[in-house]
Amino acid sequence: MVFWGLVLGALLVVTTGCLYLLGVLRQRRPQEPPLDKGSIPWLGHAMAFRKNMFEFLKHMWAKHGDVFTVQLGGQYFTFVMDPLSFGPILKDAQRKLDFVKYAEKLVLKVFGYHSGQGDYRMIHSASTKYLMGDGLEDLNKTMLDSLSLVMLGPTGQSLDSSCWHEDGLFHFCYNVLFKAGYLSLFGYTKDQEQDLRQAEELFVQFRKFDRLFPRFVYSLLGPREWREVGRLQRLFHKALSVKRNLEKNGISRWISYMLQYLRERGVAPAMQDKFNFMMLWASQGNTGPTSFWALLFLLKHPEALQAVREEATQVLGEARLKARQSFDFKVSTLHHTPVLDSVMEETLRLGAAPTLLRVVHNDHILKMASGQEYLLRSGDIVALFPYLSVHMDPDIHPEPTTFKYDRFLNPNGSRKVDFYKAGKKIHHYTMPWGSGVSICPGRFLATNEMKLFVLLMVTYFDLELVDPNTPVPPVDPQRWGFGTTQPSHEVRFRYRLRPTS
Ligand code: HEM
Ligand SMILES: *[C@@H]1O[C@H](CO)[C@@H](O)[C@H](O)[C@H]1NC(C)=O
Ligand SMILES: *[C@@H]1O[C@H](CO)[C@@H](O)[C@H](O)[C@H]1NC(C)=O
Repeated sequence: MVFWGLVLGALLVVTTGCLYLLGVLRQRRPQEPPLDKGSIPWLGHAMAFRKNMFEFLKHMWAKHGDVFTVQLGGQYFTFVMDPLSFGPILKDAQRKLDFVKYAEKLVLKVFGYHSGQGDYRMIHSASTKYLMGDGLEDLNKTMLDSLSLVMLGPTGQSLDSSCWHEDGLFHFCYNVLFKAGYLSLFGYTKDQEQDLRQAEELFVQFRKFDRLFPRFVYSLLGPREWREVGRLQRLFHKALSVKRNLEKNGISRWISYMLQYLRERGVAPAMQDKFNFMMLWASQGNTGPTSFWALLFLLKHPEALQAVREEATQVLGEARLKARQSFDFKVSTLHHTPVLDSVMEETLRLGAAPTLLRVVHNDHILKMASGQEYLLRSGDIVALFPYLSVHMDPDIHPEPTTFKYDRFLNPNGSRKVDFYKAGKKIHHYTMPWGSGVSICPGRFLATNEMKLFVLLMVTYFDLELVDPNTPVPPVDPQRWGFGTTQPSHEVRFRYRLRPTS
């Protein structure tokens, strides 16, 4: 009897444990947000979420209101959809929400990088020093040189000005931004032709990784794709290895500062290589796709293109090529381009769709702007998806799906910063870079880089869509939540150097 009692007891414990792990036993407690576990144990709503996060969240929002908790692959996510209530989550004065913990798990999985204690601080202090303010001066000069090299070739002859070149707009933008960005940050050797070839090859591999990335993060790769990811990771570790750095000069101070820190901490060279890959990913995965959307919107809206060109002529004078080799350009002009600034802000509003995630440390109360209070449960994740809850809110941005190049301009031509929701001024009226502790530290460099590229394209080149009636392609639904979105198909365009004096 006693024996069977023990066996039954043990069985009960095991089953309860399993049920618990499968999420069957979780119940909504008083004051917690609506709980939607989905119909499949453990997986919950994972399939619908991964297939199209945007549509899924729209549906949940309509069903449950501004705050709800959903089960996704054994983890509970509480989505907060009311931007007027973001404040306490982003400021998190009580330190009950943790960004670093989740990020560390992710980079270990995706890049094999074991984060050290002070990494987060180190990355942000390196970025404050070298990706912002005065520290950016070196880099934005380097970026201009790199763009000249990539677009005009080492001798300036690679583009014959008299003829049109045809390409996919997405490929073209991503390719140019990747190569220029990679070379500017990770350095040159003595042989520029060789550098360009290597950057081109790296771009091809980067795109392979990029395509697998969303399903890799969601653990949805088949065995062959899994091996392919492993191969790509090793290839990047080798190409970006710190051993190779010895042959290079002009490695950005941003990268060398961070590597020096890791060296001094005794981090193994192989781990530093992984760190480099992580930084390549963070720095090159969004600027190309964003520039694509920017140029596409300009090509689809001739009045916007016209306005950007007029502004460029005003601040730059007539476009000239210096010795046919490099763009003649004062980077400081980027300070005086409110029209282009508005175009970029509008592009990011329509194109950038990151998810912000924070792990809940201790059970605590989230107070909404409405006064409503919700209990957040320890171990759950609080999630924001500002693309849906902010960028597409017709109250904040009337006709939210339409590109309006002057949406971020005041009538007197200055930058518009006043936006309202329900009559209240709203602080976070777009959030392409994330916000709070996890805000993108590269946002100033990214903006400069993309502005430079767009300015060069519209001032030095004639451009047109191969089929002017081609519509703006829909977003690839797999990429919702991963930074800048990508189009579900390519758009053909052609370009040629404008005849210059
Ligand atoms: C259009 C271009 C870009 C967009 C839309 C973008 C967006 C973002 C977002 C949303 C995050 C935060 C992710 C989170 O909350 O977990 C992030 C993080 C980061 N970004 Fe960017 N980014 C861009 C370009 C760049 C560039 C050019 C660099 C560097 C040169 C860069 C460096 C980083 C780094 C290092 C992080 C991680 C910061 C951390 O660990 O706290 N980004 N980016
Ligand atoms: C580039 O360098 C300048 C220094 O004059 C710096 O102030 C600025 O933020 C950087 N970016 C642009 C676009 O000028
Ligand atoms: C331009 O207009 C905005 C609001 O419409 C105002 O806040 C700003 O001070 C004005 N700037 C100038 C230079 O007049």
